[in-house]
Amino acid sequence: MLSRQISQQLIEEETPFYLYDMGLLRQTLESLTSEANKYGYKVHYAIKANFDPRILEEIHKFGLGIDCASGNELRTAIEAGFAPKTIVYAGVGKRDKELRYAIEQDILSINCESIQELGIIDELAREQGRVTDVCLRINPDIDPRTHHCIDTGQADSKFGIPYEEVKEHIDWIKGLKNVRIIGLHLHIGSQIRELHVFESMCRKVNSIYADMVKRGFDLRMVDCGGGLGINYDVPENEPIPNFASLFSIVHNHLDVGDAEVHFEFGRSIVAQCGELITRVLFNKTTATGRKLLIVDGSMTELIRPALYGSYHNIENVTAQDEENTAKYTIVGTACESTDVFDQNVSLPVTKRGDLLAIKSAGAYGMSMASRYNLHDLPRAVYRT
Ligand code: LLP
Repeated sequence: MLSRQISQQLIEEETPFYLYDMGLLRQTLESLTSEANKYGYKVHYAIKANFDPRILEEIHKFGLGIDCASGNELRTAIEAGFAPKTIVYAGVGKRDKELRYAIEQDILSINCESIQELGIIDELAREQGRVTDVCLRINPDIDPRTHHCIDTGQADSKFGIPYEEVKEHIDWIKGLKNVRIIGLHLHIGSQIRELHVFESMCRKVNSIYADMVKRGFDLRMVDCGGGLGINYDVPENEPIPNFASLFSIVHNHLDVGDAEVHFEFGRSIVAQCGELITRVLFNKTTATGRKLLIVDGSMTELIRPALYGSYHNIENVTAQDEENTAKYTIVGTACESTDVFDQNVSLPVTKRGDLLAIKSAGAYGMSMASRYNLHDLPRAVYRT
């Protein structure tokens, strides 16, 4: 990871901060776009993963579109130069003002998540005298075999519309004058490492697509969502995720005629490009003998371990004496007992002032940061 290579340059930087490896981001985007081009697939970046302006600028240069989940994300994407016709917008609870904005901007697709929402979109589009493009987000009832906090495609989930419900409302949907149903959208979950679940997803899409075409819909796109997982355990083994495998699975199993196939990746594009760099403030040993490293970062910069129990590999980038190690629990400064980055981590003997790199933190790190305890939001440092 980058921090180790440039550790000397980082010593004077005020911590904590996110270190972004822009070279790795570019290599990731090169791999993604060249693999996608083989099949003519269209890729959107899920801006919720990281809305850092320099990152968006780089992604824009590679011609990706955007997947957004709120009016503010949509506005940020448009202000960053992404053309509205490359933007899709999903979310179970879009406010009227957000929908009005999306309709006005004439984006590629509002990915609609309930029958009631579809009626509202129709009404709001009518107010503007427009016909707006919509994909139906289908809940396919698939277990993506990932962490239960980040699955989204199972029957009881709040996301998407069960296809049975779509069928019950087919005539009503066809009668809507101000929405044009242009395709289907699915997103079954995030951090998916068992890629065979995408085969099941394709099979579901095939039958739904065929049924809708039979019922007279002219579907020109299928948006397969995001979800490709990364290697958090040993990031160095897989700095660029395996887009080729996922695309070849979809190519071999998806059967949707001439419809355009879209993806919305977040984590797999940016996670490995970011590290949270934090400095050790204190060494402390609990009455039970646990060795704590108290660092100047916390769950306010990176909430994933506290929120989901997520694992991030941590390295001491200052002390690199592998002969002399100890086991530490690494805790942050926030007034919360769950503010623990990891336990039982074997590190070179670590002391006050050492820099630690919390790896694979480029996705859902900065974008989920908070100001709890009135912490400052973390800075970003970029290296090419
Ligand atoms: N499309 C939709 C509709 C989504 O809801 C998401 C992520 C994505 C695309 C991008 O998924 P990705 O390629 O990043 O897996 N905060 C959690 C992850 C939440 C994911 C939310 N939706 C985490 O830190 O693991």
